[in-house]
Amino acid sequence: MQIEKSKKLYEQACKVIPAGVSSPVRAFKAVGGNPIYMRSGQGPFINDVDGNQYLDFVMSWGPLIHGHANQKIIQKIIEAAHNGTSFGTPCEDELNLARFIVDSYKSIDQVRFVSSGTEAVMSAIRLARGFTGRDLIIKFDGCYHGHVDPLLVSAGSGLVTLGNPSSLGIPHEVSKQTISLPLNRIEQVKRAFIDFKGQIAAVIIEPIPANNGLLLQTKEFISGLRELCDENHALLIFDEVISGFRVAQGGSPEIFNINPDLVTFGKVIGGGLPAGAFGANREIMNHIAPNGGVYQAGTLSGNPLAMAAGFASLKLLQDENSWEYLENLGSYLEKKVKLLGFNEKFNVSFVRQGSIFWFALDTNIPPIRSEDINAKSEKKYASIFNGLLKNKIYIAPSMYEVGFLSTSHNKEHVDHFIQSLYHSMECIS
Ligand SMILES: Cc1ncc(COP(=O)(O)O)c(C=O)c1O
Repeated sequence: MQIEKSKKLYEQACKVIPAGVSSPVRAFKAVGGNPIYMRSGQGPFINDVDGNQYLDFVMSWGPLIHGHANQKIIQKIIEAAHNGTSFGTPCEDELNLARFIVDSYKSIDQVRFVSSGTEAVMSAIRLARGFTGRDLIIKFDGCYHGHVDPLLVSAGSGLVTLGNPSSLGIPHEVSKQTISLPLNRIEQVKRAFIDFKGQIAAVIIEPIPANNGLLLQTKEFISGLRELCDENHALLIFDEVISGFRVAQGGSPEIFNINPDLVTFGKVIGGGLPAGAFGANREIMNHIAPNGGVYQAGTLSGNPLAMAAGFASLKLLQDENSWEYLENLGSYLEKKVKLLGFNEKFNVSFVRQGSIFWFALDTNIPPIRSEDINAKSEKKYASIFNGLLKNKIYIAPSMYEVGFLSTSHNKEHVDHFIQSLYHSMECIS
């Protein structure tokens, strides 16, 4: 495969951008080779600078639920851009998007827009602390909530571990405000609430954890969190940056039938442009400036292009009943995998929730905690990734990242992917 232009661009980029990339996982460190420079995309396909076309299952890491360059969304962006790219004032599509979110999530009366998922989480954490007057936050190992200082904390072993930072540059005083616990172990959360009585502001979770593989949780665990938060007057935060408007119109709360106090959004709500949001009931949101004392602001927040793209994208999902289409396509993928016997033949576990999918190597039991993932499988994953790439199929360059289907994918695309994956796995086993 010819990727000479990509190679040259990458070499030049490494001189002026750390590791040549604007976000670490793009650097292909886990799979070898160099990142591929994309020039354009259409539907489920992306085209690189050397003229190769790939069937894409990364979908810009989740935002592109309608595929690349969906013409209805692009048209709205063009119309918005012609009218000016930013005013630093409210705009109509901001109201439209806010109404759509409020109508879709039972527990949300109001949302505030920001420009990324990280910002949404950072603001939600501050709001939870401001609202409760407490400092400590519980998170779960393997859940990623953006590169927010207090949440870049990994787990220690033991019953309750006061955090160790997993990035340099995070002051100990900050990381020790975070308690990181294993997923799906409600007794450990209970213990933390006893040990730190009256000090826990919030429990934050990706209800459908999709940043360390896809670690599907039981309903009992999520409802256990709801009960513990209620009993202890702490807030339950659902980080819906990936799952929001992807798994259902009402996201994870609809899937679990459990309402969180605070919700964070990103990815899909921006329709492919930078947008995030956090929302809650009126009482909680009243604590945000300028009504309340929790300060939060942003020059480009509620940007008219991002709001137009986000609103167009969500409207399309609703108007075309896309959640049903995506569920059916996901279920088709799952059936294909079963039919071909991946589990028995290759010792691989496929996991799926709606249009999010993932496969865990070297295990026939779907992992539910990060420690269940076999770290030694990385080499195998790299071979599979590179095998697929040669076949012009683009999946995430890390075995810990999930894949995404979009409304632009169809059964033929899924067939092609699954057959190529089968072939790649056959070659290495
Ligand atoms: C669950 C979750 N929360 C927060 C973030 C951070 O979002 P962003 O990358 O837009 O800052 C991500 C990013 O992948 C995410 O998956």
